[in-house]
Amino acid sequence: MASISFSNTVAVVTGAASGIGRELALQAAARGAVVVATDINYKGLVELRETAWQQGAAMVIHELNVADREAVFQFAEAVIPRLMGHRLVLINNAGIALFSGKFHHTDLHDFEDLLQVNLWGTIYMTKAFYPYLQEQNEGHIVNISSVFGLGGVANQAAYCTSKFAVKGFTETLRMELLDTNIFTTVVHPGGTKTNIVRAALPKGPVATAAMHRKSVRNFEQTAKTTPGEAARLILNAVEKKKQRLVIGSDGKDIDLMTRLFPVSYTRMLKKQVEQAFADPYKNRSKQMNRKDS
Ligand SMILES: NC(=O)c1ccc[n+]([C@@H]2O[C@H](COP(=O)([O-])OP(=O)(O)OC[C@H]3O[C@@H](n4cnc5c(N)ncnc54)[C@H](O)[C@@H]3O)[C@@H](O)[C@H]2O)c1
Repeated sequence: MASISFSNTVAVVTGAASGIGRELALQAAARGAVVVATDINYKGLVELRETAWQQGAAMVIHELNVADREAVFQFAEAVIPRLMGHRLVLINNAGIALFSGKFHHTDLHDFEDLLQVNLWGTIYMTKAFYPYLQEQNEGHIVNISSVFGLGGVANQAAYCTSKFAVKGFTETLRMELLDTNIFTTVVHPGGTKTNIVRAALPKGPVATAAMHRKSVRNFEQTAKTTPGEAARLILNAVEKKKQRLVIGSDGKDIDLMTRLFPVSYTRMLKKQVEQAFADPYKNRSKQMNRKDS
């Protein structure tokens, strides 16, 4: 399949104020795209625009909460008339994690809040820009799932649910868009050195600030990929119309393990996860379980 470049392209990036999204915005601009960078964090967007200026690129920034359905559709209504036939690359990157412990300790409101951003944010953005993509019969949708969208992991029920759903949503679009000139890429990054774990504040009856600090330290020591490298691979995948991308040696290990051992990966991964992350909940969970019973 012939590869494409980012010229004559508008890249709309969500969650662009930090981490992978920030690098996606800067690198897409460096590859020649006009970038519309969005995030709930406006201050971060202003800093991003300044960095882009210093690198010789102009960037349009827009404060946007992807979990707010009306705001997403208003944003698309404002942007679409200004696309003027440009090829659209929509990158649904905004995401949050939750530090709440096991499912039975996770408050349903927190679970819902996470799905609202990671899953509904992706669906709203795609629905809002779909008419433009269809009218052009051209473009690309990139949805950032996770390696936790390939295998389920303890203490991550809401996050895994959202990322498996993003995978299912994207693969459905992939089939519906067969034989069109609109492409999808579902991305499954392994641990990437960003702010995501730090930003996931402790919630619920078990998780404490001290456990959270420990978890942030473990994550920062074990995450293998830089956000710059993740963004480079994602943009390469768009150029090559690659429809599935797993990032990092940890991501590739888990991909292989979940495919070769679709049931017993649970026990195998548990050991691996426990080696990488000393379980911050262990003793507290035992105490809480005793109280629960
Ligand atoms: N870092 C990892 O190890 C890793 C691994 C797999 C997948 N991912 C996924 O990569 C994506 C990017 O995360 P990151 O690691 O760069 O994290 P990050 O925390 O550095 O960046 C996430 C960005 O999303 C923004 N955001 C949060 N809620 C939002 C909302 N409601 N509306 C708009 N923007 C919002 C934040 O303000 C932030 O700028 C996420 O979807 C995440 O789930 C990350």
